[in-house]
Amino acid sequence: MQFNIAALLGDGVGPEVATEAMRVLEALGKKFGHKFQFHHGLVGGAAIDAHGVALTEETLKLCQSCDAVLLGAVGGPKWDDPRAKVRPEDGLLALRKELELFANLRPVKVLPMLVNSTSLKPDVIKDVDLMVVRELTGGLYFGQPKKQWRTSEGRRAVDSMVYSEQEIERIVRVGFEIALTRSNKLTSVDKANVLESSRLWRQVTTEVAVDYPDVELDHMLVDACSMRLIQRPAQFDVVVTENTFGDILTDEASMLAGSMGMLPSASLAGIPKAGSKALGLYEPIHGSAPSRAGQDIANPIATILSAAMMLRYSFNLIAEAEAVEKAVVAVLEEGNRTYDIMDEGKTKVGTKEMGRLIAEKITG
Ligand code: IPM
Ligand code: MG
Repeated sequence: MQFNIAALLGDGVGPEVATEAMRVLEALGKKFGHKFQFHHGLVGGAAIDAHGVALTEETLKLCQSCDAVLLGAVGGPKWDDPRAKVRPEDGLLALRKELELFANLRPVKVLPMLVNSTSLKPDVIKDVDLMVVRELTGGLYFGQPKKQWRTSEGRRAVDSMVYSEQEIERIVRVGFEIALTRSNKLTSVDKANVLESSRLWRQVTTEVAVDYPDVELDHMLVDACSMRLIQRPAQFDVVVTENTFGDILTDEASMLAGSMGMLPSASLAGIPKAGSKALGLYEPIHGSAPSRAGQDIANPIATILSAAMMLRYSFNLIAEAEAVEKAVVAVLEEGNRTYDIMDEGKTKVGTKEMGRLIAEKITG
């Protein structure tokens, strides 16, 4: 089978980690007889430098015409002026919005060989295997009004946390559907004791729950959730939450897995029906890490595991996705580590070497 992938490498370490994910996909193609065709497009700071906008029409069209999008990372100090008219992040946000990728899946799995690479006690994190379902096209990121202005008393700014019941319902359904494929447990995270949008979120979630009698639903406030995530993270299975809460909680949750460099993500327009294919965007949860760029040190595993999610969710290639995940585990088991997960007695490897080792494991 031939698959067309829009490759938006982006800024900072983005190109380095995405190149390794492409290397792994190519190895996989050889092994399983698929052709992965990469079509390059600009996004983020790279697009601002070339065209003055963070996402060009051309790149958007490219993504729409492909079977999936692989994205490295966007952003960097060069484009960070708070007064700038356009920011690299705008490109990523526009892509998510234009492609209607409202469901962001962020699995957090602690691999046994990395329990000592985290700052938490091995006992606390050892059984962690959870999935955060983050709403990705609503809330504070997109709500209007959103602006800064001057008044006679000084400057003011507003962001709006806006949700319609349809937006809540569709993401919560994704949460329930995923819970059905796991341990039938769903935690909906909100701030219903303070925020009106969270009260609507809680109502809609409770209404949708009627359709999923086999799933045990509980509601948790976001502040309590952030505490529980490091106190007793193994209690969670599937967590569904709005955009900003999901952004913050997943950076926190990445520390359970040892490093931001380990966490993949899939952004989808809903759960693909069994056996069907659907456009999705796949990217590590980490940013462009400008201070690590160009040194061949960044951990490519988050992006490689994002490619595995692409195989699973956009291409319905389940055995192939598992082959990638197994290769990652095997290479780590052999003691290979990038700097971010380095531990005593292990072998330190760079970005390219990590990608090469994983690709080699696949081709055998
Ligand atoms: C993420 C990132 C993005 C977000 C940034 C780069 C806009 O932090 O994917 O988690 O906030 O969604
Ligand atoms: Mg984030």
